[in-house]
Amino acid sequence: MTTERQVSRKAARSPIVAAAAVTVDLSSNDYLGLRNDPRVRAAAIRAIERYGVGSGGARDVAVGMGLVHELEQRLALYKGVPIVRVTQSGYAANIGIIPVLVAGDDVVILDRQSHRSSADGATLSGARVLTYPHADMAALAEAVHFAADGKHRVLIVTDGVFGMSGDIAPLPRIVEIAEAAGAEVMVDDAHGSGVLGHGRGTVAHFGLVERISVQVGTASKAMGVLGGYVTMFSEEIAARFADSRPMTHSTALPPHLASACLAALDVIEAEPERNDLLWANRHRLADGLASAGIDIGPSQTPIVPVILRDPALALELGRRIRARGVIAGILVPPKVAPHEARLRLIASAAHSPAEIDFAVSVIADASRSIDGTADRSARV
Ligand SMILES: Cc1ncc(COP(=O)(O)O)c(C=O)c1O
Repeated sequence: MTTERQVSRKAARSPIVAAAAVTVDLSSNDYLGLRNDPRVRAAAIRAIERYGVGSGGARDVAVGMGLVHELEQRLALYKGVPIVRVTQSGYAANIGIIPVLVAGDDVVILDRQSHRSSADGATLSGARVLTYPHADMAALAEAVHFAADGKHRVLIVTDGVFGMSGDIAPLPRIVEIAEAAGAEVMVDDAHGSGVLGHGRGTVAHFGLVERISVQVGTASKAMGVLGGYVTMFSEEIAARFADSRPMTHSTALPPHLASACLAALDVIEAEPERNDLLWANRHRLADGLASAGIDIGPSQTPIVPVILRDPALALELGRRIRARGVIAGILVPPKVAPHEARLRLIASAAHSPAEIDFAVSVIADASRSIDGTADRSARV
């Protein structure tokens, strides 16, 4: 029997795919078009020439940490928080910080669509893990009520923007529920930073910076580089995070990536129009697909899914549009459950309106050409 993963690998090697000239890439998290920006590249190269390509060890011995510290200060200013610690990736940030915040008999409560790295961090913490159905505030309130015993810590963890559907977490309600029960909230804003709140993220978008104790971010999406970070208000948490496994048992972010991130932040701050372009493209993409009768689910952000609920259909649609030069993320098992299969499109400031229109027409045509796809999409 051929598994979906094997089908996916086969599709990626197929001659049609290999021969296609790629014209529009809608699979990348490069929201602001910075991944290949000459200023960001030059900053990385300058730091490589000075420090080399690697950091040489964990933070206590790594070279070029001055740049990492500078990035931490810069991110703190950008996010409006007192303390930021930079990690090797968003994944490392989540698995490092959650075990600092909860342990043992504490409880961590996660939205079921939270990113795997949050779920892994929760498991590693050893705390009791509860989950609530995606964005279901009644279920969250019930879980918090059940968990809050006045003796143990309760931590609610949610993504700011959900990576599968591009919808925004109802943070004001989450904070209300948490505050009523003395619980803390942690937001993984990997997809919100650089995108919402004029770039400052989902928490800033809702005016909740002071009320959310910890945020996690990544440099691999809107900043176009690689790296992660954690924002905090408490020196005590920062001290404990310094002893977390990603900080003590993993090689630190190399200085050239910190240098690239600093240059990316310069561009983001100097060119706020990139954020406007991103949103104009997002609306063009979402409106175009919706007008063609395609189910884009609850998307509210530049992540725009094409909901298919059938892995074979998602693979086939992804292959057909790729053959015509449009690349989408294909989300099939094991990344998602079979009934959640979909294509994931991500608009970027780097796309032109003509590219978005081309992609919409290719996706609409290909959907129609697959027997029943449009009907199926319209029905669900
Ligand atoms: C919501 C969320 N959190 C964390 C991560 C991990 O970030 P990184 O790629 O920097 O490890 C991702 C990336 O896929 C993500 O989407």
